[in-house]
Amino acid sequence: MIPYGRHFLDEEDINAVVRQLRDRTLTQGEVIAEFEEAVARYVGARYAVAVSSGTAALHLACLAAGLAKGDTLVTSAMTFVASANCAHYVGARADFADIQADTLNIDPMDLERRCRATGRVAAIVPVHFAGLPCAMQPIGVIAKRYGARVIEDASHALGAFHDDGTRVGSCAQSDMTVFSFHPVKHITTGEGGMVTTNDATLYRDLLRLRSHGINKGADPLFAADQAFTDGKRNRWYYEMQELGFNYRLTEIQAALGLSQMRKLDRFLERRRALVSGYDRAFAGHDLIRPAQRAGRAQSAHHLYVIRAPFGRGCVSRNEYMERLHASGFITQVHYIPVPQHPYYQKLGHRACEYPNAWSYYAEALSIPLYFSLTDEEQARFIEHARKLLQ
Ligand SMILES: Cc1ncc(COP(=O)(O)O)c(C=O)c1O
Repeated sequence: MIPYGRHFLDEEDINAVVRQLRDRTLTQGEVIAEFEEAVARYVGARYAVAVSSGTAALHLACLAAGLAKGDTLVTSAMTFVASANCAHYVGARADFADIQADTLNIDPMDLERRCRATGRVAAIVPVHFAGLPCAMQPIGVIAKRYGARVIEDASHALGAFHDDGTRVGSCAQSDMTVFSFHPVKHITTGEGGMVTTNDATLYRDLLRLRSHGINKGADPLFAADQAFTDGKRNRWYYEMQELGFNYRLTEIQAALGLSQMRKLDRFLERRRALVSGYDRAFAGHDLIRPAQRAGRAQSAHHLYVIRAPFGRGCVSRNEYMERLHASGFITQVHYIPVPQHPYYQKLGHRACEYPNAWSYYAEALSIPLYFSLTDEEQARFIEHARKLLQ
């Protein structure tokens, strides 16, 4: 079967993991720091903190940003649920803004409208949808106006560039950026994630929160009388200074991540070539069109999403997905608008309040896009995609 997304591992990756298993530490060693440094250097951020998933990264980013009960976080109505759930983990609430029809990213005008209606907004979480970076400048202006922290959800966007030429993750116009290393993403650690930031205080907070809230590095100690004997630091002593978690990545995963990072540019290049192939194939097609029509030159191309008027002049989406499946292709819908999920409906959200997200959802389908997809497989998919829609 040909899926919509798939990881790529080579012998180098496997050897890196085996080497780690044979002779090195399994957790809390040096490879995590090497992996963090490699990502920080690549994206151009001062600090990076590796964690066990993108979801954990969002959770810790919300905690480090100081979100708590009574606070509101605003994110895109069209994203994976984790971008909103992180608000609820810390007792805050998520609210949503609609997307722009051409980029599928959060619409700054609707974001402003939502922020105005809410009053004080503690955090804005722009999501770089399918790898296409949001225009950060207007988001930054709105964040300043409403006193919000900006946490970029770049789970789809490792390797993408902002308008100003900086890499996504450099946090040039945000407080923190969050990545995911789930196997469908650009690089994988099995499960894993990372937060990047340029703020030393946020960095220290993230390190502590990742590991139970226990003091790290140069954190000041609360109880000096417990910490020292005759002026010397007690060897056993540590302090849990706040409620944290065990969101650590293992060294085995970090070894894999480090090895994958060496291939990232190749991964991105292949994705770009495949995207051009799809663009050419569907140009002028009367039913199929690429869902993102603007800004893709800077994208990391996590997903290739097509739009088609399913059920209106062609088959229903479910029938289409079934036909494609019977021909060996697994497609998926990214995403059900978050306010449409029963959990959020019960909290009073209504997806129909986000017309662009809603109409996109009715027509969207993610098709195969990953490094090891061959030209022949892509051509076969295109042939079936055209034929089976009628
Ligand atoms: C936009 C977005 N945010 C957050 C996440 C959560 O990442 P993870 O699966 O690593 O927890 C995902 C994962 O698919 C995602 O697509």
